[in-house]
Amino acid sequence: MDPNANPFNPGAGSPPPELVGRDSILTHTDVILERIKRGRSERSLLLVGLRGVGKTVLLREIRRRALEKNYAVEMIEAQEEQTLSQLLVPALRRLLLELDSTKKTIAAVKRGLRVLRSFLSTIKIKSSNIELTLGIDAEEGRADSGDLESDLKDLLLALGEASKEAGRPIALLVDELQYLPRSDLAALIRSLHAVAQESLPFVLFGAGLPQLFSQVGEAKSYAERLFRFSEIDRLSHSESDEVVRGPVEQEGSSVTDDALEEIYKQTRGYPYFLQEWGYRAWNLAPSDGIDIKVARQATRLALEELDHQFFRVRFDRVTPAEREYMRALAELGEGIHRSAEVAELIGKTTYQLGPVRDALVRKGMVYSPAHGDIAFTVPLFDQFMRRTLKLPAKTKRPRR
Ligand SMILES: Nc1ncnc2c1ncn2[C@@H]1O[C@H](COP(=O)(O)OP(=O)(O)OP(=O)(O)O)[C@@H](O)[C@H]1O
Ligand SMILES: [Mg+2]
Repeated sequence: MDPNANPFNPGAGSPPPELVGRDSILTHTDVILERIKRGRSERSLLLVGLRGVGKTVLLREIRRRALEKNYAVEMIEAQEEQTLSQLLVPALRRLLLELDSTKKTIAAVKRGLRVLRSFLSTIKIKSSNIELTLGIDAEEGRADSGDLESDLKDLLLALGEASKEAGRPIALLVDELQYLPRSDLAALIRSLHAVAQESLPFVLFGAGLPQLFSQVGEAKSYAERLFRFSEIDRLSHSESDEVVRGPVEQEGSSVTDDALEEIYKQTRGYPYFLQEWGYRAWNLAPSDGIDIKVARQATRLALEELDHQFFRVRFDRVTPAEREYMRALAELGEGIHRSAEVAELIGKTTYQLGPVRDALVRKGMVYSPAHGDIAFTVPLFDQFMRRTLKLPAKTKRPRR
């Protein structure tokens, strides 16, 4: 079929032709946005799930909806080896300037900028001349103690007050939250808590890998009352069929049931893989539509591509010791396993392997769904390892 008309969109954060199976969570976010706008309080929402399930796409949709409701919105992405201040300051500055752009100059916004200026005096931000461009004096005694928790709290409170006075709510969207260092995450939670207590019109939407559950809980014990976690999972069989069938039919073509069956069997309903298979199948198909033969060809091509790109780049980021750990985890087969079993395969104790496992968690490669358990964050990663390292296929059943 005409590749120029191919509706599928595989890629990180690439909007799908049809956002399938996420209605209830979007309805919920609409309620949050509306309530915050009306000055009511609501818990911040954290989207948690494996790689490629559609967290970023959802954050983008939330951003779109927030803009529609006249929010001032910033969407940022945490990165490994980056501090919260580095991540947050440019975004908060843009938010303040946006509030400032309303005709009337609002005292609270000016004050917010002065507090930001104070905050900046306590941190070093690499390769940035934000201090110079603010062109405003610092607010003495606010956000300048040098203690991140208390300074960030001052800053977010000032921002919340500015937004209230300007009559424009703020939505801050933070992707890849699992990369924040623990103390930074604690400071963020503490600050959000202060903002929520004052019922200021400021809301955070976050997204991250499943390690975020425990990271948030460990950072602050009261965090669960401040956040609502929403688990973003793979799609059901019928939703997966819809991901493929919907856009194909929309373009006036068709896909057979057995082709859909093959695609679901291979992708297990993971959104990124569904887009990838749909994209391949579309380009391979003759003009009369996608049948089982085309779907099988798509499987071959998609796996080849994933093995050389998607899985490979992740595998190349780890050290030999980490690779050995991943290899053992892959050998145990799909799903969740005991870390003790991984250790046993390697011939070491779980204690000895602790640092390796922790490094892999920090890199976002694996996570621990429950104490003593371990699993890959990238769906189907075990299959990739077995294919490329020619490991024997395990018949052992996954624990979940
Ligand atoms: N609900 C959905 N319906 C159809 N396609 C979707 C859906 N959600 C996501 N996708 C597709 O899946 C792919 C991955 O989405 P996205 O980048 O948002 O995932 P992610 O969870 O942020 O992954 P990562 O953890 O790697 O950042 C994109 O190509 C997107 O178009
Ligand atoms: Mg993402």
